[in-house]
Amino acid sequence: MPSLEILGGALTAALLGYAVHRTVLQPHESLAKNAEWLAALLLLVPALPAAVLRAQIGSTLLASLVAYSAYYCSILLATIAYRLSSTHPLTIYPGPLLCKVTKLWMVYTANTGKLHEYTRQLHATYGPIVRIGPNELSVVDVDLLSRILGSEGMPKGPLWEGRRISGKRGAGAKNNRGNLIGNRYKDRHAEARKTWNRAFTPAAMKDYEPILARRAAQLIDELKQKGATGSVDLSLWLSYCIFDFMGDMVFGGGFELMHDGDRDGIYRTMVAGLHLPALTQQIPWVAPVLPYLPWVGKHMKALGQFAFKCVTKRLQEGSVTNDLFYHLLDEVPNPEKQTPFPVIMTNAVTAMLAGSDTTAVALCNTFYCVLAHPDVYQHLREEVDVAFPPGAGDPVDAAKLSSLEYLNAVINESLRLYPSIPTSLQRAPQPGTGTHQISPTLVIDERTSILVPPYVLHRDSRYFSPDPDRFWPERWLRKDDPDVVTNTSAFVPFSSGPPNCVGRPVALLSMRMILAWMVRSFEMRLVEGYDVKQWERDLRDYFALQKGPLPVVLRSRGNM
Ligand code: HEM
Ligand SMILES: *[C@@H]1O[C@H](CO)[C@@H](O)[C@H](O)[C@H]1NC(C)=O
Ligand SMILES: *[C@@H]1O[C@H](CO)[C@@H](O)[C@H](O)[C@H]1NC(C)=O
Repeated sequence: MPSLEILGGALTAALLGYAVHRTVLQPHESLAKNAEWLAALLLLVPALPAAVLRAQIGSTLLASLVAYSAYYCSILLATIAYRLSSTHPLTIYPGPLLCKVTKLWMVYTANTGKLHEYTRQLHATYGPIVRIGPNELSVVDVDLLSRILGSEGMPKGPLWEGRRISGKRGAGAKNNRGNLIGNRYKDRHAEARKTWNRAFTPAAMKDYEPILARRAAQLIDELKQKGATGSVDLSLWLSYCIFDFMGDMVFGGGFELMHDGDRDGIYRTMVAGLHLPALTQQIPWVAPVLPYLPWVGKHMKALGQFAFKCVTKRLQEGSVTNDLFYHLLDEVPNPEKQTPFPVIMTNAVTAMLAGSDTTAVALCNTFYCVLAHPDVYQHLREEVDVAFPPGAGDPVDAAKLSSLEYLNAVINESLRLYPSIPTSLQRAPQPGTGTHQISPTLVIDERTSILVPPYVLHRDSRYFSPDPDRFWPERWLRKDDPDVVTNTSAFVPFSSGPPNCVGRPVALLSMRMILAWMVRSFEMRLVEGYDVKQWERDLRDYFALQKGPLPVVLRSRGNM
């Protein structure tokens, strides 16, 4: 056994690995995002010591095995050592060892669905700035928000590269013109956002009101029938209603979940399809290969296909109402200018997912909070009954709904406790711009990302007290009470700054209308024996919150 040669070969390969790490991978970590370069470094470089060793010992298999594994081990160890070393730019920030070593730990945690609770625990242990990844900090500090999220802040972070959900068809739209939600370039984002802003002006909103009112009325009707004979899963029904509405609003029609149930499984597909991106967003470098793997991302592909179908249909048939597509397609000012198809696809999936899942879970959380607090329910009903007395028509007046103080305090309070996107607001310096200064002491370079977890911010007693964990709508109405702190700067369920939620007006209108209408139409209570703690146990942070069932007994209030 020529063991001396093997040892020599292994050592050479290991030294080569160390050298590659020190001179290329560590200083130019972004190189690792370029697949060709990475392949060359990982596959071709170790071929050299392998060839030398083979010439000495004769066995190709053994020579490759030794050289490649020594090379990889060396790179791995050097990477870990660097991430833990005092020369790493984030070395002064506290955090768990595993977080500093690898983002795979966050993949594991994200998979449990309890990332929001874990992140909160981290801040309780380590303070307002925690190192949650080798190159990522989580920040819970209102004074820093404007230079992270705000107009002085940064564009979206690399998380979005790991969340490309529309498969190959949408992949081309990455950072290009027209793409909005994951755009990491400020000017391109601003340009895309102009079109979207047009779709949510007060005038455009007027067009969505009757669409929403029709779906809300349908929900009440369906529930009057279904609820007559026992309990219903309100969580599912609210989701169906919101998805049906979003289908109308985005595509001018598409879903009939309330009427048909989930016949084609598209609702289940959509919910299931959110799991994988919640993991890949932690490690964006895997995303480019995902669409090519047949055994993963099956849901993503199904979703991409569904969107493809809806978009094609909508493009062929046009629409009778001014739906979101009407605005996004530039149908208004410039009918002959064609928006590229991948951009349309990405926009479609974006609107559908960004809007339906978040609004549905927000609404369910609000109903849960109200039903679990009978005194709040009582107070809310009094306000709604006065505003919309019997015989005075349905509660569809948007201006009136937005003026109801208690109703809006209830909605704020549930969005505070359960922000639909609990942890995943991420920003990073725009690629190619170097560093970004957040505070005199916090300056980050391009490979560093900053996370702002609303769930943690919203339950911080510096900003919400007393009892930040308690559902207490009154805290929003005690502006002059010195014992109550309700810091609206720390309230960011829709994020803030240039890439904040463009759909906020629609989200709030749907929540107000459906909540008011339901309260006016039904006597509601949680089923006998339902454990109120179950709701929180079921909540899963997969980018947007996912929820469990909410079994509710309904009785029509008859005269309403
Ligand atoms: C209660 C319901 C909703 C919540 C809590 C919510 C929350 C958010 C948040 C936190 C962001 C920003 C993400 C970030 O800063 O990284 C966002 C972005 C966005 N939301 Fe919403 N959203 C809701 C409903 C909607 C609706 C109904 C629509 C559309 C119809 C919508 C469309 C969008 C879009 C397009 C973006 C991307 C904006 C951009 O990148 O410029 N959302 N949403
Ligand atoms: C709810 O929060 C928003 C945003 O911070 C705020 O403008 C509004 O006044 C709040 N509503 C109530 C009733 O406090
Ligand atoms: C919110 O907190 C910040 C930082 O502590 C403070 O500067 C600001 O005045 C507070 N705002 C309100 C409305 O309490």
